[in-house]
Amino acid sequence: MGRITLEKVTKSFGEVNVIPPLDLEINDGEFVVFVGPSGCGKSTLLRLIAGLEDVTSGAISIDGTDATGLAPAQRGLAMVFQSYALYPHMSVRKNIAFPMKMAKIPEDEQKRRIDAAAKALNLTDYLDRRPGQLSGGQRQRVAIGRAIVREPQAFLFDEPLSNLDAALRVGMRLEIMELHERLATTMIYVTHDQVEAMTMADKIVVLRAGHIEQVGSPLDLYHSPRNEFVAGFIGSPKMNLIKGEAAQSHNAATIGVRPEHIAVSTTEGLWQGTISVSEHLGSDTFLHVHEHGLGDEPLTVRVGGEIPVKHGDRIWMTPDQERMHRFDKNGLRM
Ligand SMILES: Nc1ncnc2c1ncn2[C@@H]1O[C@H](COP(=O)(O)OP(=O)(O)OP(=O)(O)O)[C@@H](O)[C@H]1O
Ligand SMILES: [Mg+2]
Repeated sequence: MGRITLEKVTKSFGEVNVIPPLDLEINDGEFVVFVGPSGCGKSTLLRLIAGLEDVTSGAISIDGTDATGLAPAQRGLAMVFQSYALYPHMSVRKNIAFPMKMAKIPEDEQKRRIDAAAKALNLTDYLDRRPGQLSGGQRQRVAIGRAIVREPQAFLFDEPLSNLDAALRVGMRLEIMELHERLATTMIYVTHDQVEAMTMADKIVVLRAGHIEQVGSPLDLYHSPRNEFVAGFIGSPKMNLIKGEAAQSHNAATIGVRPEHIAVSTTEGLWQGTISVSEHLGSDTFLHVHEHGLGDEPLTVRVGGEIPVKHGDRIWMTPDQERMHRFDKNGLRM
């Protein structure tokens, strides 16, 4: 069981408060992703849950038991970091066994857990190698293996894949999702990566300056962002946020239109603009459009597939009115 509850948790470093009172409920078996700009407190929050930092005030409970004062080892949680500190002189097997050796788990039980973790992570053939003889992705799998054998109540991941190249990240992302399906253990995962957040999470927690801006499923946040901040943060490329006359005609201070909700035509439409950059990905084309009369920011438009346009072309754009977001002068969803 891995239900984690944070109640009025705050954290200050000296005079500086980085987490104002924060409440959060994480259900057993849930995959929760923390996202937010650099410095917003994602790692701090994870470290508070892990017990690597003490809360300044408030309470953390795990499965209904107060864990606020417990040492990290007593919380039954396992943390995996971006930099997987493996012991270079030890084999993969010994690296994975290390936390069990510390916990004085009997040898035969250690062997059983190592074999199971190695199988789950495709490391069976690498158990006798040393970390230096592995790829980055394999090393990260060893670090995850070391977390798995502790059979934790919950896994805490702090940007575990950000050191890996793009292709490996995709592979590891799927492996972690599969692992979650199989173990059904609570996972809390910090990332900067939009795609990771959207695809992995049951629940996304959007943080800004230590404060929770919104909690919801990926599609809740995509369809109904509570404010302009969440609207601009969730989704890639970012939602276009337009102020001025175009917004006023919808009785809003700001309107938001996602790049994929704007239709493009060479002959007719609502707004006209000039393409400054067109990015042709094959599967999609991203257009960055200026001189559109809607403000200083370029508009981003996403067109499925390939369209024959280039820098300097004038195009027409029509937003899908049904999928337009409206925000008031305080940036709140209307
Ligand atoms: N030990 C510390 N002493 C003082 N300030 C700290 C300490 N650890 C973190 N902070 C501050 O707390 C704030 C939150 O930091 P944190 O590392 O949690 O951010 P983050 O969201 O994980 O950022 P990133 O995405 O860059 O990893 C930052 O302003 C940071 O400077
Ligand atoms: Mg961090």
